[in-house]
Amino acid sequence: MLILGIESSCDECAAALVADGTRLLAQKIASQIPIHSPYGGVVPELASRDHIRKIVPVIEKTFAQAGLEPRECDGIAVTAGPGLIGSLLVGVMAAKALAWSLEKPLVGVNHLQAHLRVIFLEREFPYPHVGLVVSGGHTSLFVVEGPDRLKPLGRTLDDAAGEAFDKVAKLLGLSYPGGVSIERAAAGGDPRAIDFPRPMPGKRLDFSFSGLKTAAAVRVKQAGAPAAGALSDFAASFQEAVVDTLVKKTIAATRREKLSRILVAGGVAANRRLRAKLEVGARAEGFEVAFPSISLCTDNAAMVAAVGDSMLKTGRDDGMQLDANAGLSWDVT
Ligand code: KG4
Ligand code: ZN
Repeated sequence: MLILGIESSCDECAAALVADGTRLLAQKIASQIPIHSPYGGVVPELASRDHIRKIVPVIEKTFAQAGLEPRECDGIAVTAGPGLIGSLLVGVMAAKALAWSLEKPLVGVNHLQAHLRVIFLEREFPYPHVGLVVSGGHTSLFVVEGPDRLKPLGRTLDDAAGEAFDKVAKLLGLSYPGGVSIERAAAGGDPRAIDFPRPMPGKRLDFSFSGLKTAAAVRVKQAGAPAAGALSDFAASFQEAVVDTLVKKTIAATRREKLSRILVAGGVAANRRLRAKLEVGARAEGFEVAFPSISLCTDNAAMVAAVGDSMLKTGRDDGMQLDANAGLSWDVT
């Protein structure tokens, strides 16, 4: 089965063609980083307007890259939520128009489920496993019981980890996306230089990053933005606090659920410090940990096509009833 995936839930406008749910044939991702950079975060209105400009060329270029015609795909999968409603609507409307004109089945995909599926484009990873989705909009722990079964264990009660990176980067005058620039600024810095709080260190599997963000803001307010020499220590210490919290909760979740495999996905999963510390933490417990390649951690449409493949195989067709849902939860797929 050849599936066209479309993703427009936030600030990436992406299309991909995936065969049999596992083989990525072609993909195109139009990034909006230059548009949102001056604001230090995604501006929803600007995001949806740019999606409108890019969505058709992105889909056309994806088919051209694969050397295929739109009528040759067997179905269409589009992110239906969660995400920014204006952005989601552009992808959903494009997908509906295409499905209607080509007379192809159409399914709406949950963005979190898609992040947790992308690894299967690169390797096998047995079920059940603990899944951590950590991105600009989400920090959520699940038991991934099977391809279409997610049991939620915990989530952030306020900011997502990526959002904390983005906001603190803005505070430090670093460029968007903040996670990338904080990781870069942290190189060579001392992660123990500043003792930032490790939020919610208790037994619950929920997260909270707003206190950590405030601690960073208070420090900048009191002492001013760190000068060139101190910036790497500040960035490394902040990054360490986020990473320690993610590692601790993920290991605790895996122990509590008596599982031995961990999958990490989403934009923050690209962070090398997180990858290294979770590897070490998992190894100490005898757990196996898997991360998608860095390029597949951030938003893409290959992950959407991969989930769409298994949904379409069940005979499902959301057709013209499909609607975008900004608050779509994990179980409404
Ligand atoms: O998955 P994603 O592309 O979009 C959402 O679904 O939110 O994640 C984007 C987030 C941004 O907050 C960005 O700062 C963060 O992922 N991010 C990183 C890194 N690369 C992207 N955070 C930490 N380290 C990175 N290397
Ligand atoms: Zn995402």
